[in-house]
Amino acid sequence: MERTFAIIKPDAVANGHTGKIIDAILGNGFRIAGMKMKQLSEREAQAFYAVHKERAFFGGLIKFMTEGPAVVMVLEAPDAILKWRELMGATNPDKAAEGTIRKRFAQNIERNCAHGSDAPETAAIEIPFFFSAAELL
Ligand code: RTP
Ligand code: MG
Repeated sequence: MERTFAIIKPDAVANGHTGKIIDAILGNGFRIAGMKMKQLSEREAQAFYAVHKERAFFGGLIKFMTEGPAVVMVLEAPDAILKWRELMGATNPDKAAEGTIRKRFAQNIERNCAHGSDAPETAAIEIPFFFSAAELL
């Protein structure tokens, strides 16, 4: 079993897509090991996306990620990291495959409705950033 970290981003929560995204997660064989609704502070969003801090889109990304509540989750499945990235689809929803979560629910390359860890080393940092061991069941 592998664990990955996922976010239903503020656009999707505000647009009422939370239930449909959770349904897709469960329907695709993931177990939800942890889940909570949370509005990220500016400091949290900056730390979480620190790898992008030199990018032109960083300011917009931080504004977007802090604009309202998000749902943070830990998903468990065999090969969960790759499997969740595949189910989300490409970063740019225009390039995302039919049936993927970003194709279904994202508006554009920035407001793209979901996040997923991109590697085991990233998941190992992102999961404890949001969840203590006691919160993971
Ligand atoms: P994520 O980290 O959120 O799972 O997304 P990702 O790996 O597919 O894409 P990444 O390159 O890590 O970008 C992180 C998030 O920044 C926003 N973004 N905006 N305006 C732009 O050109 C642009 N590019 C990226 C998106 O919200 C993207 O998910
Ligand atoms: Mg990324």
